Amino acid sequence: MRVTIHETRGWIRSARVLALLLAVASGSTTWAEETGKTEWVPGEPYPTALLDRYPCHDYELPCGNMAPPIVQQVEFSGELTGDSALGEKIATNLRWGNCLSCHKLPGHPEGGTIGPSLADYSTRSLPLSYTYQRIWDVRVFNPNAHMPVYGPNRILTPEDIGHVMAYLYVPHAENRIAAKQD
Ligand code: HEC
Repeated sequence: MRVTIHETRGWIRSARVLALLLAVASGSTTWAEETGKTEWVPGEPYPTALLDRYPCHDYELPCGNMAPPIVQQVEFSGELTGDSALGEKIATNLRWGNCLSCHKLPGHPEGGTIGPSLADYSTRSLPLSYTYQRIWDVRVFNPNAHMPVYGPNRILTPEDIGHVMAYLYVPHAENRIAAKQD
């Protein structure tokens, strides 16, 4: 799986680089550096130390003034090499992909109805590049879509999305067999 990312608004990137340089110049460190702990592990509870570094989790800080992440157009080429059992875990875990809160998924009819059902996604012959872009940054198709921006917000890595896509594209019966073999 090969993924190329194009950022469509270069000036925001320049602003971010400047902000980063200012942070380095002022000597501020990351949560990981300050606590000596590793970064948040997907699937585990969020660390609450130094929450002021995350303005959107703080009532006092101007979350609404933060620029949204840059819209990213991605290219997907090569084969889908994900692990569908891990993809199911990512898609259904409340603290990870949490696709289930808005979508019905293969083997999960209890999913939400804010987004269209993905239960039969494997039967719809949709291109891998379309699906990858939808999950990485939905704003390329619909700037007002009610779906999280998973790539630019660093919620899911390209590998995570590969696993989720393997889960969506492999018919459910095979999925279950793969999950049992693990
Ligand atoms: C907060 C709700 C929400 C969450 C969470 C969410 N989605 Fe969506 N999703 C939507 C909505 C709404 C749409 C319809 C998009 C539009 O309005 O353009 C959509 C569309 C899609 C589509 C396109 C479906 C089609 O028929 O073309 C795919 C694929 C998709 N989502 C996958 C995912 C995956 C995978 C996850 C988890 C990693 C996820 N979504 C999480 C709300 C959500």
